[in-house]
Amino acid sequence: MATVPVTVTVNGTERTTEVEPRTLLVYFLRDQLGLTGTHIGCQTGQCGACTVQLDGEAVKSCMVLTVQAEGHAVTTIEGLAPAGTLHPVQAAFWEEHGLQCGYCTPGMVLTAEALLRDDPDPDDHTIRHAIEGNLCRCTGYQSVVQSVRVAATRMAEGAQPEPLLRRS
Ligand code: FES
Ligand code: FES
Repeated sequence: MATVPVTVTVNGTERTTEVEPRTLLVYFLRDQLGLTGTHIGCQTGQCGACTVQLDGEAVKSCMVLTVQAEGHAVTTIEGLAPAGTLHPVQAAFWEEHGLQCGYCTPGMVLTAEALLRDDPDPDDHTIRHAIEGNLCRCTGYQSVVQSVRVAATRMAEGAQPEPLLRRS
């Protein structure tokens, strides 16, 4: 199939490549850029495993054509914090056991981070509403909500990305 050129800024770096017009953003990220932190689940927009941020908004990358991201900025879980560090949302998920198998986690974290930029002090109902498009078969969600709550508190206190090694 014929390809078309596309330029997308991914995690702060402008990437220009050729894609088939039908190429979904999730496959561009995973297969062409090697950013496998963006997971594939249902491929029908239901599970949220493929969530990334498009111009700062959480979107399901299995529902976006790569050509639709032309000229826009995509953030994946790899780009949320500098390499070797944990974003405060990631740190809160670690501390509050907001994950078990981790399959949903990149999408959960990116959804939560987008929420906290819009609403730095969400109540539980707001958090649950924000993550309702991100399915988790492990945690029962309570620890996820707690993680987002703790992240909000830490970020209000000025928390910054912290070195991962400090936790290992
Ligand atoms: S893989 Fe995209 S929503 Fe499930
Ligand atoms: S931690 Fe396993 S699906 Fe959410």
